[in-house]
Amino acid sequence: MAFLAHVLLSKQHLDISIGSVLLLLLLSTCSFSFGVESDINCLKSIKASLEDTLGYLNSSWDFSNNTEGFICNFLGIECWHLHESKVLNIKLSDLGLKGQFPRGVENCTSLTGLDLSSNQLSGPLPHDIDKILSFVTSLDLSYNRFSGLIPPQLSNCSYMNVLKLDNNQLSGNIPAEVNQLTRLKIFSVANNPGLCGYPLKPCPSISQKKSVSLARVFKSNGVIMLAAAGFGIGFVFSFSFFVLR
Ligand SMILES: *[C@@H]1O[C@H](CO)[C@@H](O)[C@H](O)[C@H]1NC(C)=O
Ligand SMILES: *[C@@H]1O[C@H](CO)[C@@H](O)[C@H](O)[C@H]1NC(C)=O
Ligand SMILES: *[C@@H]1O[C@H](CO)[C@@H](O)[C@H](O)[C@H]1NC(C)=O
Ligand SMILES: *[C@@H]1O[C@H](CO)[C@@H](O)[C@H](O)[C@H]1NC(C)=O
Repeated sequence: MAFLAHVLLSKQHLDISIGSVLLLLLLSTCSFSFGVESDINCLKSIKASLEDTLGYLNSSWDFSNNTEGFICNFLGIECWHLHESKVLNIKLSDLGLKGQFPRGVENCTSLTGLDLSSNQLSGPLPHDIDKILSFVTSLDLSYNRFSGLIPPQLSNCSYMNVLKLDNNQLSGNIPAEVNQLTRLKIFSVANNPGLCGYPLKPCPSISQKKSVSLARVFKSNGVIMLAAAGFGIGFVFSFSFFVLR
């Protein structure tokens, strides 16, 4: 009886093992083909979202050939393995590309490097850039026309070694959170006329701005218009300063 129980138990055990092996196999094929499919969609979406003024992508990025790893021969694409459509790096520097930051990059889930430098890309950097470039170690967006703020979420791209944002039209304060990128070796933000804060020139402080606007209120009206102003410490200081005078 004990022997039978043992046999039954091990048979059950065997079934479970075979079951889990099959399940694992199934899962791995699923995630394998899903990953590859996702990278192909990534490049399709990038191509669709960019204006290819010189026709480089048009002539090189041909999606009709469906052999495994076909995208690895595309201009500017490096794969992890030559015969597997899994993108390691995207290097599309100086190709006359126009348009906004290509969000399709989010579906190249194993990407480590993105170089879109020296094109005519414009518009804001996506605020969820940390979700789009989770594992990227090198990002070069220099020499474009990107504008708006540097998203603080960049500080969540914790593998970043090289971050080049110079020669764009970015503005505002360089987020202090960038300091959290402990692996950062190269960080360039020069030639963005509206950008301020370390390592560039300091930004005008808020209390300075408030004193200036308060001075204007005094000049134009000669009365204190408290209701229109904020409640910052800087404000209180400038307020007492003017009262004392
Ligand atoms: C794209 O390439 C095809 C041939 O490969 C060509 O006929 C077509 O004119 C090109 N389109 C653009 C916009 O360059
Ligand atoms: C498809 O791509 C493979 C691998 O890049 C290449 O060897 C083959 O010649 C291509 N076939 C066609 C019809 O373009
Ligand atoms: C990424 O892939 C998902 C699933 O295929 C798709 O729904 C989504 O639109 C893609 N993202 C972009 C920006 O193309
Ligand atoms: C970083 O990611 C976490 C989790 O998604 C989020 O809570 C946090 O606000 C992000 N940090 C920044 C600076 O956006």
